[in-house]
Amino acid sequence: MKNKVSIIGAGMTGSTTAHWLAEREIADLVLVDVVEGMPQGKALDLQEALPVIGKDVKVMGSNDYSATAGSDIVVITAGLPRKPGMSRDDLLFANAEIVRHATEETIKYSPEAIFIILTNPLDAMAYLAMKVAGVAPHRVVGQAGILDSARMRAFVAMELGISVENIHCYVLGGHGDEMVPLTRASNVAGVPLEDILPAGRLDAIVDRTRKGGGEIVTLLKTGSAYYAPAAAIAQMADAILKDKHLIVPASAYLQGEYGLNDIFFGVPTQLGRKGVEKVIEYKLSEKEMADLQKSAQGCAENIAKLK
Ligand SMILES: NC(=O)c1ccc[n+]([C@@H]2O[C@H](COP(=O)([O-])OP(=O)(O)OC[C@H]3O[C@@H](n4cnc5c(N)ncnc54)[C@H](O)[C@@H]3O)[C@@H](O)[C@H]2O)c1
Repeated sequence: MKNKVSIIGAGMTGSTTAHWLAEREIADLVLVDVVEGMPQGKALDLQEALPVIGKDVKVMGSNDYSATAGSDIVVITAGLPRKPGMSRDDLLFANAEIVRHATEETIKYSPEAIFIILTNPLDAMAYLAMKVAGVAPHRVVGQAGILDSARMRAFVAMELGISVENIHCYVLGGHGDEMVPLTRASNVAGVPLEDILPAGRLDAIVDRTRKGGGEIVTLLKTGSAYYAPAAAIAQMADAILKDKHLIVPASAYLQGEYGLNDIFFGVPTQLGRKGVEKVIEYKLSEKEMADLQKSAQGCAENIAKLK
């Protein structure tokens, strides 16, 4: 039987996620949005592109959640994106209502689904989705870390002129400017980044990574990044549907790991068919641990506001 992935919010990230997923040919796709005709139009356009690239999946758009019935994965991207000058946290209350509604409607039609959350502020929205859906923590995961790590990888590749495939970066923590790029664990073909790049250049890359989302928002002026976030979701959906046991940085529910409890937070997670199979605990330096705790404070505060 074919897999089915439903994407709630057919805006920039939602429709681009559908695009990346269709290219992977791993599932039939449903796009849902509140704007009439828009998800239908985008779905039809994408369906009409598939003969050109030779992919056989069905793509459907709807304003009605019944179209999502029987989904293996529900991706929630519905909500407002940032405008220049806004932080991700400024979106908290408006997006909480949207994510609550999207979760209630989708869990009704897909009681077995795994949820991938994108809407910001990401860690708080993943927490909210888990509570509203009333599912076990392993069935909800938030996308942030693959994106933040990919940004760092891209900057290192640009600096060194080396293939992105050789560059491995790990960014943990909350999806905000307090995220924690792990420069000790990051490497180029096995050689630690700290041994390749002069300290000043590495610091500049870390800083640009932390502010990577804001850099795009400032350039675009109306909306936030979508190619890279959507590619990251597609990788997560692929790992889940193919039961790959893939370890990626993502926002997972913590129950004591890294000394943190009852929050969603960016950590190395192993993804497979049941969702989050495992949270991997790195041995961190005192400084890395302190940075992580600082980043966790922001996530915990957002969750407390929602409560
Ligand atoms: N976690 C990340 O790494 C990351 C990256 C990029 C964007 N985001 C977040 O993802 C969200 C979406 O960003 P975008 O660029 O796609 O924005 P967008 O404005 O292009 O799309 C959002 C879509 O959600 C729809 N929507 C609003 N309310 C809805 C509802 N109740 N039900 C269904 N659909 C609804 C809108 O009509 C719109 O089409 C934002 O909150 C943004 O901050 C997160």
